[in-house]
Amino acid sequence: MHIRPRRLRNSISIRRAVAETNLSPRQLVLPVFVAEGISEPKPISAMPGVVQHTLATLPALLDEVLATGIGGIMLFGVPTTKDATGSQADAPDGILNQAIATCLNHVGNQTLIMADLCLDEFTDHGHCGVLDAHGAVDNDATLERYAAMALAQARAGAHILGLSGMMDGQVATVRQALDNAGFNNTLILSYSAKYASSFYGPFREAVDSTLEGDRRTYQIDPRNLKAGLLETQLDIEQGADIVMVKPALAYLDVLHQVSETSPVPVAAYQVSGEYSMIEAASQNGWIDRDATIVESLRCIARAGADLIFTYWALEFADRLQQD
Ligand code: PBG
Repeated sequence: MHIRPRRLRNSISIRRAVAETNLSPRQLVLPVFVAEGISEPKPISAMPGVVQHTLATLPALLDEVLATGIGGIMLFGVPTTKDATGSQADAPDGILNQAIATCLNHVGNQTLIMADLCLDEFTDHGHCGVLDAHGAVDNDATLERYAAMALAQARAGAHILGLSGMMDGQVATVRQALDNAGFNNTLILSYSAKYASSFYGPFREAVDSTLEGDRRTYQIDPRNLKAGLLETQLDIEQGADIVMVKPALAYLDVLHQVSETSPVPVAAYQVSGEYSMIEAASQNGWIDRDATIVESLRCIARAGADLIFTYWALEFADRLQQD
């Protein structure tokens, strides 16, 4: 026998020496929910270990972000009042814009403060855009709302805007609105290959979603790879600084292809359902929690992610280097 691949796996030392994938804390981003109308952090039952924060609990959380050296946080706002156009999304004193300002005030440029740019947390019907007379999501009317929201978030100080609404032309519209107002340096991270996924289930509780129905007229059909590649290409042409594939684990083929061809950094979002499945199986004693989490993150990195959005970012930042 001439070839014995097992020689490279025989000890921790050799495995560590030849490992192809490196994942550092700086590549992890923590999604953070900030709710209005609660006086202390509120647990999300479908996501054990994750809470809705208050404005007052953000500074301590950010201290942890700095201590672990993760890349930054992505803020989601949970307002008490929702309406047809999502008016709290661009109100300067809306919960998300207040949260951005609170974070900026605490950390400045020491870490990245990102904000979700989408209307679903702010609309009473729960859709990512405004509706037309027939109840369908109106793409171009929604773009105007996104432009207003982008300016509110940029004014509050967000470093990166996370465009997650899947409206056609959203990157170009937001880029132009930002540039016209002098926010040339505000970055756009576009959720380019965002699929209509059941893995978002627990997130709906996290943001008190009122959605009835689904998002299949705007998010991508899970059967389609080409659509994900096209959306990514269009977003890059329109000026996206970073593109994202979402969810992560069930979409590693999409992630891999995007990473092979993208001229800009590629992020992947390990979404709520991916988190909850591992936590639930662990609680039942069916899998080894920590090992499964580390493996899932390393596999997402192996497939080509430069950045990974994960609810385990803080807890696992320093465990990724362990063997
Ligand atoms: C939309 C948005 C969603 C998620 C992130 N941004 C929900 C959706 O598209 O239905 C899901 C994230 C997760 O499941 O962890 N603002």
